[in-house]
Amino acid sequence: MWEPNPAKGSEGAAVRIRPFDYVTDTGALLSFMPELYETNFPGFVVDVEFMARRRSQLRAAVRDPSQKVLVAEDSLGVCGFIWLVMEQEFSRRRRGEVSAIYVHPRARGRGVGRQLMEAGEEHLRSCGCQSVMLMVTATNQAALSLYRSLGYETTRYQMEKPLPRKSR
Ligand SMILES: CC(C)(COP(=O)(O)OP(=O)(O)OC[C@H]1O[C@@H](n2cnc3c(N)ncnc32)[C@H](O)[C@@H]1OP(=O)(O)O)[C@@H](O)C(=O)NCCC(=O)NCCS
Repeated sequence: MWEPNPAKGSEGAAVRIRPFDYVTDTGALLSFMPELYETNFPGFVVDVEFMARRRSQLRAAVRDPSQKVLVAEDSLGVCGFIWLVMEQEFSRRRRGEVSAIYVHPRARGRGVGRQLMEAGEEHLRSCGCQSVMLMVTATNQAALSLYRSLGYETTRYQMEKPLPRKSR
């Protein structure tokens, strides 16, 4: 059963959220990608091309006003991030998306994920977004608990089935 991280509980205040800096933070964020993608998408393998694509997407995100990346930093360095994307809905309502969120295992269970989500929502609100959406793997209990505790509700299901090759 999940419990807050007692060894780190008193350090919560030492975590600060700030904008992503491409020069100083890219290495840390790329090092988080394998766990983020390989645990949420079973069978997915993070390879060199994927990392190179992610690197250039991070570079582009810094210059794109419809995106924002925030990082969480503790005494050991960057310990998490949130990647936000804004879109215009059909109804012309502006909606934000949490495209990715990650907290390093050393910092989990002490409120860093919540801090990142709250800072992200604040940024989206300040940009005129009226709502925020995200997608989450159905088995990711930690992420589901975090989102539900912040008021997120299921509005759509994504359904999938494997299509095995037919033998001739
Ligand atoms: C999901 C994740 C971001 C949570 O970050 P975190 O800093 O550990 O979360 P917090 O400490 O802020 O916890 C926030 C809430 O989520 C819940 N929670 C966190 N981890 C949990 C776990 N392992 N099991 C159940 N609930 C959990 C807590 O109940 C907490 O609510 P509370 O503060 O009211 O008790 C982190 O586990 C992570 O980075 N996982 C790997 C990457 C990932 O899967 N990202 C999501 C992709 S959709």
